[in-house]
Amino acid sequence: MKSISAKNLTKIYDNRVTALKNVSLDIEQGSFIAVMGHSGSGKSTLLQMVGLLDTPSEGEVIINGEDVSRLKKNDLAKMRMKTIGFVFQAFHLNPQLRAYENVMLPMLINPEYKTKADIQKKARELIDSVGLTERAEHYPNELSGGEQQRVAIARALANDPDFILADEPTGNLDSNNEESIFTLLKELAQSGKGVMVVSHNEAILDYADKVYYMKDGELLEERP
Ligand SMILES: Nc1ncnc2c1ncn2[C@@H]1O[C@H](COP(=O)(O)OP(=O)(O)OP(=O)(O)O)[C@@H](O)[C@H]1O
Ligand SMILES: [Mg+2]
Repeated sequence: MKSISAKNLTKIYDNRVTALKNVSLDIEQGSFIAVMGHSGSGKSTLLQMVGLLDTPSEGEVIINGEDVSRLKKNDLAKMRMKTIGFVFQAFHLNPQLRAYENVMLPMLINPEYKTKADIQKKARELIDSVGLTERAEHYPNELSGGEQQRVAIARALANDPDFILADEPTGNLDSNNEESIFTLLKELAQSGKGVMVVSHNEAILDYADKVYYMKDGELLEERP
C-alpha cells in the first residue's frame, strides 16, 4: 500500500519559531484527510514537509517506504514529480497559457513522455476528467475561480502522482464551487489517490474520511 508517513516532525524557523511540534501523520492511498486549524497553527508548514517542499528540523518523512532525507537533490526532485501533486489557494496558473497548456507544463520535464503530441493528448484527457472539455482552449483570466482550480487540479494530476496535497483549495471560491472542488478531491481519493487537504472550511467535514486539527504546531485528533 502506498503511503506518506510523517514521523515526529518538528519545524523550527529561524531558531525561534516552532511551527510544528512532534507531528506524526499517515496519508494512505484511497483516503481523504483534512487538517483544520486557526491561522498560524502550522498547517501549511506541515503540508510543505509532507510534500517535500521543505525539510523538517527533526523527524522523518517516509514515502512509499523510502526515507526521503536520504535522497540526493535529484532523486528528491524525481520523487516529488512522480509521487506528489500540489494544489494551492491562489491556483498559480500561468496566465499566458491556455488551460490545457497549463496542464502540459509538469509533463514537459518528465522523461517518461517522449513527444509533445503525447503530452498534449494526456493534458486534454485530464482537462476532460475535471469536467472542462469545453474550456480547454481558454486562458485563466477567461475562467471562473472554480474552473481555474479544476485546471490546477488537472495539472497536479499530470504526472499521475500517488498523492494530492492541497493548501486551502477553496479559499478563493464561493460555496457552489467549494462543494464541486471538494467533490472532485473526494473522487480522486476514491479512485485511489491519497488526498490531504488543509482548510479553514467547515464544509470539508462532509467529505473527509479523517479530520485532524492543528493547534500551536501540534496535531490533534479532536477539535480543541
Ligand atoms: N518561512 C518562514 N519563516 C519563519 N516563520 C514562518 C515561515 N513560515 C511560517 N512561519 C511561521 O510558522 C507558523 C506557522 O505558519 P503556517 O504558515 O504553517 O500556518 P497556517 O496554519 O498555514 O496559517 P494560515 O491558516 O494563515 O495559512 C506561524 O507562526 C508563521 O509565522
Ligand atoms: Mg497556511
